[in-house]
Amino acid sequence: MTVRSRTFLGLAVGAPVLLLVLWTLGGLTEEQQTGIPTVPLVTLASLPLDLWLRDLATAVTIGAVLVGAVLAPRVAARLTQIASLAAILWLVTLVAQSVLTVSEVLARPLSESVDTTVIWSLLSQTDLGMVMLAQAGLVAVIASAAWLTSGRGMGVVLLVVAMVAAWLPGLTGHSGLEHGHVSASIGLGLHVVFASLWVGGLIAMAIYAGSGEPDPGVVLGRFSVVALASVIVIAETGLLNAALRLDGIAALLSSQYGTIILAKVSVLVVLIGWGMRQRAAIAGRWRGLPDADLRDPEYRSTFLRWCGWEVLWMGAVYGLSIALSRTAPPGFSIAGDEMTVGGIVLLVLGLPMAIGFVTALGPRAPRAAVAFPEAVAVVALVAVVVAGEWVPSGMATATVGVQVGTLLGALVVLAAGTLFVAVVRARRAVGAVAIMMIGLPVAFWWLERDASDGWSTGTWASVLLAEGLLVLLMRDTLSVASTTTPVPDETAADRALA
Ligand code: HEM
Repeated sequence: MTVRSRTFLGLAVGAPVLLLVLWTLGGLTEEQQTGIPTVPLVTLASLPLDLWLRDLATAVTIGAVLVGAVLAPRVAARLTQIASLAAILWLVTLVAQSVLTVSEVLARPLSESVDTTVIWSLLSQTDLGMVMLAQAGLVAVIASAAWLTSGRGMGVVLLVVAMVAAWLPGLTGHSGLEHGHVSASIGLGLHVVFASLWVGGLIAMAIYAGSGEPDPGVVLGRFSVVALASVIVIAETGLLNAALRLDGIAALLSSQYGTIILAKVSVLVVLIGWGMRQRAAIAGRWRGLPDADLRDPEYRSTFLRWCGWEVLWMGAVYGLSIALSRTAPPGFSIAGDEMTVGGIVLLVLGLPMAIGFVTALGPRAPRAAVAFPEAVAVVALVAVVVAGEWVPSGMATATVGVQVGTLLGALVVLAAGTLFVAVVRARRAVGAVAIMMIGLPVAFWWLERDASDGWSTGTWASVLLAEGLLVLLMRDTLSVASTTTPVPDETAADRALA
């Protein structure tokens, strides 16, 4: 398999992630009501997949123009051709989006939605349609001009055109629904543009380095600056958008929308961890090299391997992003709102494991706790039950109010989870992991005991997520404990991080 196909393959993980999240939240269920037309299942599944493909095509177009025509010392023809092809795919997804939107809005079967009169009405008379039309015009320019790019000047112009086209959908979706919400629209547009620069840029960088183009180390140095700026803007605009759609911390923890945001924050932390590890590993191994020299085969293969992992996580975050944009933001929080089970799993395991990945938590675990890992697991379980009971029971509301009560509950679970992960990583605490594996489903059964219709799909999915994370934690623990000769990259990375 070539470097190009291997790098692209990582992105595909987003499709199952997207469909799984939508299915869990009931977004793939036909709502049959007598006398009211039903949106067909094929549309419910195809529209999000089309939007996901559109966002990936956007990222690849922007990344290929950035690396191939702006950062490279000479225009890289291979990348400008990829930019043209990705722009053609972007155009195709826009055409498909118009048909699928007609099917969704008018609840028509797909065969009846390919109706040029209705599609033209959508494109010419609605905000969404006009945005799609403007986007299609700009993308057509990139598709036809990118492969002809002859110098950096033209590359910069094309990059600006592509970034404007990527920014436009920010005017629609949840930010566009709230008319006059300027910060939400600008913020979401910037979020998508910088996500595209980062994700698409990394893929283009892997292709550039893997195909023997000139001065890869210099281009990587330039791209690192863009990547760092992008991560900062993505985190800021993501949190700004989240804050504009949620009325506070309580909605973050008690809604499905908030749970997906927590998952995105966790993945962003993991991605930052990959970036840091990559720098630490490379700096540790190639300390003697004055400049990163990607012509060195050993260096190049390490770089490409780490890129593959990063792209995999990026694919997952794109799946989560489309699921988020297809999920209704919650209303105002009220007393009695419960933390979602998914939110609890992310607080007690997801975020702590992500933090552990970035900060080498293990060596920092308090000695007293490391001596009793099983007791720490029990404490984490008690924290889950107490916070899950206390937040909605009214005690939190009566004493400190919904927002502060939920914040305190969340901090307790996060602190207990972080201690648990630190202790498990510090020593071979398989027993503690087993206690959590059995204890968490029991804790959730207790918290959900009053649910009239039993466990929802969301609860089952959250339990599976928890068990999966615990297996991952146990695997890491065992592999670290059983490795007598440490893996070279990890030694350098861990030493630098510790
Ligand atoms: C701190 C972490 C993050 C937060 C809080 C966050 C939050 C958000 C929010 C609130 C939206 C708007 C969804 C809506 O329309 O309701 C969004 C959309 C989006 N996010 Fe993020 N995000 C984060 C990280 C990321 C990362 C790391 C990426 C990719 C590298 C990313 C890519 C996207 C994309 C592509 C969309 C647009 C989806 C669409 O087409 O509608 N986000 N994000």
